[in-house]
Amino acid sequence: MADRKEKTFRFVIVGGGIAGVTCVEQLSSQIPSADLALITAGPHIKAVTNYKQVSKTLEEFDVEEQPSSVLEEKFPNLTVIHSAVKSLDTQSHSLETTDGRVFGYEKLCICGGGRPKLLTQDNPYVLGIRDTDSAQEFQKRLSKAKRIIVVGNGGIALELVYEVDGCEVIWAVKDKAIGNTFFDAGAAQFLIPSLEADKPERAALCKRTRYTTEEPAPGGSQTFTADRNARRQGTGPTEAGSALGPDWHEGIVLRGAEQGTRRVSLEYQCEVEQIFTSEELLKSPQQTLRPENVGSWPVYVQLTNGKTFGCDFVVSATGVVPNTEPFLHGNNFALADDGGLQVDDHMMTSEPDVYAAGDVCTACWEHSPMWQQMRLWTQARQMGWYTGRCMAAHVLSEPIELDFCFELFSHITKFFNYKVVLLGKFNGQGLGLDYELLIRCTKGQEYVKVVLSGGRMVGAVLIGDTDLEETFENLILNQMDLTRYGEELLNPNIDIEDYFD
Ligand SMILES: Cc1cc2nc3c(=O)[nH]c(=O)nc-3n(C[C@H](O)[C@H](O)[C@H](O)COP(=O)(O)OP(=O)(O)OC[C@H]3O[C@@H](n4cnc5c(N)ncnc54)[C@H](O)[C@@H]3O)c2cc1C
Ligand SMILES: *[C@@H]1O[C@H](CO)[C@@H](O)[C@H](O)[C@H]1NC(C)=O
Repeated sequence: MADRKEKTFRFVIVGGGIAGVTCVEQLSSQIPSADLALITAGPHIKAVTNYKQVSKTLEEFDVEEQPSSVLEEKFPNLTVIHSAVKSLDTQSHSLETTDGRVFGYEKLCICGGGRPKLLTQDNPYVLGIRDTDSAQEFQKRLSKAKRIIVVGNGGIALELVYEVDGCEVIWAVKDKAIGNTFFDAGAAQFLIPSLEADKPERAALCKRTRYTTEEPAPGGSQTFTADRNARRQGTGPTEAGSALGPDWHEGIVLRGAEQGTRRVSLEYQCEVEQIFTSEELLKSPQQTLRPENVGSWPVYVQLTNGKTFGCDFVVSATGVVPNTEPFLHGNNFALADDGGLQVDDHMMTSEPDVYAAGDVCTACWEHSPMWQQMRLWTQARQMGWYTGRCMAAHVLSEPIELDFCFELFSHITKFFNYKVVLLGKFNGQGLGLDYELLIRCTKGQEYVKVVLSGGRMVGAVLIGDTDLEETFENLILNQMDLTRYGEELLNPNIDIEDYFD
């Protein structure tokens, strides 16, 4: 394909998501004279707006979908090419797009993101949510639904289950507690009442204990019913092209066919065994499989805990797989176990002059003890930004060191309408049994968890308006020995900032 090159750019970035767009912005402002191309499949790009640095490592921002012309106006030497990359030849440094054009690059950055892991391929009753289009499809289907089954336990499932109104939700999670990607069982128990009711609860007495949690029985179920009339009303109809940002469901009314009540049933520690249509179920030799009212639902799901449920459709929210296929054929990329393109501490893949950032890549440098990769907006932005700087440094032959943002994992988000801050090894990741937890919990108000290892703070979960994030971030970064403070560390009557100023 090398001899068909229409044009060779100094930099080519593939993917108009947060990682790709941030990389383009960084490169364009550092080397404005460079001839640069952004190749992206969709008509819109995702831009970071209202960026705010909250503390040393915590950041907050909005994500907006914009027409790509906004970028081109800002950066005159940028060309946006609207087509998908079909193949890559790293040897000749060229790419071919699905509309048959071939482009050369001096340096390439792959920011192709991920696509939803689906339970099954091509089942019209199974929906994955990835972008604005799929969220709108979900909303449309939901408006006619009486019961849906949500499978998955990450952030998307968590938000979805909380936001859906007027439709029974059966939520199948493979773990012992909800939100396993972000929380432990204690935090899950703190959040669960939010699924039950809306009536403001009086703050219970402040409780501070060493860590104990009761977990639901293996394969057990929990059911909550809530009168949603008290909840805030939906925020109005969807506008075309609305952003699928951290608040992706905002502005999308997630309402089912039934009015008034919400019912969420939880099925713990199970996965989907099989999906049937009602016809297939009737023909099934396993009589025991048959739930009541066979035939009244379009689709049935058998879970690994032996239960079978009928529903209108299934939402598969079981995570994403890195979008690497178009780039692999004929090349020698080292792939990580999770399918991502391996990148080193300069965001370089194993192929010369090829970088990768965001959901498509897997960070394979030796991580700081307080950092881990999670496929989130924050890291897509940080990686895109740092990759832009690395690419610029390399062409300018300047040295560059791993950015400070990779020192400490930090993430701000909202779950069930609570502010949530996650810091460091917030779930004791990779620590084995070598850690201790301090918990402070005020029902309906806040949940504070600190992870200590060798007397030093290595992680924290802050739910609610705790105002502790900066102090804890500092304690994690400076690795001060906290042994002598013991449980006083979380004593709400002591202003802990006084200790450490
Ligand atoms: C429903 C949903 C809700 C989420 N909510 C949150 C949240 O609340 N907070 C949070 O932190 N994270 C959230 N995430 C995760 C977050 O969206 C991702 O981590 C982030 O978007 C990754 O950015 P990216 O730029 O790497 O990839 P993406 O945003 O996926 O962008 C990939 C881009 O590459 C393009 N592309 C793909 N293949 C090709 C190709 N072959 N040729 C050309 N272009 C191509 C695509 O069109 C797209 O523009 C959510 C994800 C989903 C699906
Ligand atoms: C675009 O590139 C040309 C030369 O390559 C340069 O002269 C010009 O200043 C650049 N434009 C901007 C806005 O930087």
